Amino acid sequence: SDQGLTAEMAKAFEEDGYLVVEDFMPAELCDALSRRAVELVEDFDPSAHATVFSTRSASHARDAYFQESGDKIRFFFEEEAFDAEGRLKQAKALSINKIGHAMHDLDPVFERFSRHPHLAALGSKLFRRPLLLQSMFIFKQPKIGGEVTWHQDSTFLATDPLSVIGFWFALEDATLDNGGMMAIRGGHKGPLRERFHRHGDAMVTDTLDASPYPDGPKVALNAKKGSLVLLHGLLPHWSGPNRSTRSRHAYTLHVIEGTAHSLDDNWLERGPDMPMRGF
Ligand code: FE2
Repeated sequence: SDQGLTAEMAKAFEEDGYLVVEDFMPAELCDALSRRAVELVEDFDPSAHATVFSTRSASHARDAYFQESGDKIRFFFEEEAFDAEGRLKQAKALSINKIGHAMHDLDPVFERFSRHPHLAALGSKLFRRPLLLQSMFIFKQPKIGGEVTWHQDSTFLATDPLSVIGFWFALEDATLDNGGMMAIRGGHKGPLRERFHRHGDAMVTDTLDASPYPDGPKVALNAKKGSLVLLHGLLPHWSGPNRSTRSRHAYTLHVIEGTAHSLDDNWLERGPDMPMRGF
């Protein structure tokens, strides 16, 4: 059967490198995920991690907080959210950028969303053995949510052969004025340009191919609440600052092919007691 992915959808994804599926997740589940994320932020006390967030502290603590987040639930704030002592300059709810990177395995509300039967059905069409690698809840708060520059997701999550697909969910309507995404249609047919990975204790970005992304066609990936946007790991995409008065909550899951080789210098690490699982 073609449950979850018709032949037309599969063809469009293959041609374009993205696919917008409207009404994929029920609105109640989108609301429940947003509520849970807000609750997690409310319960999080950044002053207990002042060395991480202080602008005065060595960047080592901040780097480690990110580098060790692959199998945890951690909180990432907008640039300039904190003062030198690690105190928030404005309300916490207005300073949060995202939560990552293992909510899908550690939080029951995120787990339910991430392993919803609709997703499992689709995942089984796209992968032989799907593995859920990474989750991110992105807030894109009004006025402060900034630009995410053009990139390919495989830069951050490579396997051999490359296999990552981004499952991007609009939890609220996403358009260009509130920080929605743009993509270069068909741009996934080009090479991987950069790779971000571990090198000893540091993270480095290697240039693999210096050729620029094609000029176009650039398309806005407008997505109504409940829509799923599939993003091929090589698709160049971008999201703008949120210049509207409303938030643009989104949730992303990055899924890899379990039969591909994981590269052991990927930035994202998981402890031995937390192996990746499927849908
Ligand atoms: Fe991305």
